[in-house]
Amino acid sequence: RLLIIDFGSQVTQLIARRLRELNVYCEIHPFQKVTDAFLADFAPKAVIFSGGPASVIDENSPRPPQSVFDLGVPILGICYGQQVMMQMLGGKVERGHGTAEFGRAYVTPMAARIDLLTGWFLEEKEQVWMSHGDHVSEIAPGFEVYGTSPNAPFAITADLSRNFFAVQFHPEVHHTPNGKTLYENFVRLAGFTGDWTMGAYKDEAIRQIREQVGDAKVICGLSGGVDSSVAAVLIHEAIGDQLTCVFVDHGLLRQNEAQEVVTMFRDHYNMPLIHADEQELFLGALDGVSDPEVKRKTIGKLFIDVFQKHAGEVGGAKFLAQGTLYPDVIESVSFSGGPSVTIKSHHNVGGLPEKMGLKLVEPLRELFKDEVRGLGHELGLPASFIGRHPFPGPGLAIRCPGEITREKLDILRQADAVYIDQIRKHGLYDEIWQAFVAILPVRTVGVMGDGRTYDFACALRAVTSVDGMTADYYPFSHAFLGETATRIINEVKGINRVTYDVTSKPPGTIEWE
Ligand code: XMP
Repeated sequence: RLLIIDFGSQVTQLIARRLRELNVYCEIHPFQKVTDAFLADFAPKAVIFSGGPASVIDENSPRPPQSVFDLGVPILGICYGQQVMMQMLGGKVERGHGTAEFGRAYVTPMAARIDLLTGWFLEEKEQVWMSHGDHVSEIAPGFEVYGTSPNAPFAITADLSRNFFAVQFHPEVHHTPNGKTLYENFVRLAGFTGDWTMGAYKDEAIRQIREQVGDAKVICGLSGGVDSSVAAVLIHEAIGDQLTCVFVDHGLLRQNEAQEVVTMFRDHYNMPLIHADEQELFLGALDGVSDPEVKRKTIGKLFIDVFQKHAGEVGGAKFLAQGTLYPDVIESVSFSGGPSVTIKSHHNVGGLPEKMGLKLVEPLRELFKDEVRGLGHELGLPASFIGRHPFPGPGLAIRCPGEITREKLDILRQADAVYIDQIRKHGLYDEIWQAFVAILPVRTVGVMGDGRTYDFACALRAVTSVDGMTADYYPFSHAFLGETATRIINEVKGINRVTYDVTSKPPGTIEWE
């Protein structure tokens, strides 16, 4: 496996993405954690130093342990990673003074060709993405220059005798179009064969789950979302009926959702499944509540109680399974250490394992979202299910601003179903990251036939995004929007006005609450 030492770059995760795409297994660890002992234990086959915001000229700037250079494995330093490498190996780094560079730049080759650059410089120059204040002013002994740009004379450097490579630009970002080739050459040089496939991962995960769990019982909270579903099917394949799933129906699910989940897991996969129908309880507790944070907290707390009650029915369970993904696990490098503002309290079951005295089984901990989808595919989950848009834990409660009533929820479910049907019919579902309807807490006047109507207005939302952190509204055609509005108003009793939300995130959020 390959070790990525994170020095706090915004794009460190992209390095991991690029390597995973090459079927190479890698892990990101913050520099603070990478000690001599860590390195000896991890025994990486190659190491990558990420970029980072610090300046190596500052006294306490982040460093890897000196011993990393004695491992005898290939190392690739990127941006800050290059500077740290040069500094530690005897070169020099200087502050900007007019040589800072942010954005597109062009690197041209030097005379000698090296394996790292196979497939590079087929044209005269390569476009790369630079983002640096400091720059290397003197390379370390043993290094040569293999590529240069106007503002970065040492854009590509290498010590071939030790297989150390260092570049000033960011090969992992899209604006370095040929960057993946560089990673491909690097991992090939390091002896990786690209055998990290989802098929192999599945077999290994099943072996590990059996080893961890033995003959103990496991419970798994099934939300109907992709992550918990893939985790459940994988664990079921590993330990069969030692696994029981608990599906909490809080009455805030989409149309037919509860039935679909129960049918799929109980009937199709033959899994022991507890269907906890707790609609009365949740809707009762939410009665009269309109503050978004109170809604979220009420649902989160009840969920934990209810889950605990039903999981208790299983008796003697020792493990709790969760669909935690790699992005949730990566410990990020924090320089400020300051608290960040809570925009929304997210619904999760953190704290539950301690409360119930259960150990965790998290078979997706090493995977990115698209890898989870690949694994779901490997496990035979239907494609339509694997590709489903994300759905928030608090469900329709946060798509119903103001007070939640059964009437509004029913109307919302119907409108949402029509909207999603439209999106699927037009072949747009997979282009959109998330789409849903929010029912607004206002009634407006309309005219239908010869009569006056006084019904709810709704808002359609559709966004493109990579990770939900930032998002753009989806540019539907006017024809699509018009047709969808007509269908919703005709087919859903209780709605007489349809609007389209054209807010991006930021400044908006994806959900309305
Ligand atoms: P926002 O509205 O914060 O949403 O822009 C970003 C993404 O997160 C989802 N979301 C949640 N998911 N529990 C979840 O599991 C929650 O409490 C929650 N709140 C928002 C939202 O649907 C979007 O995909």
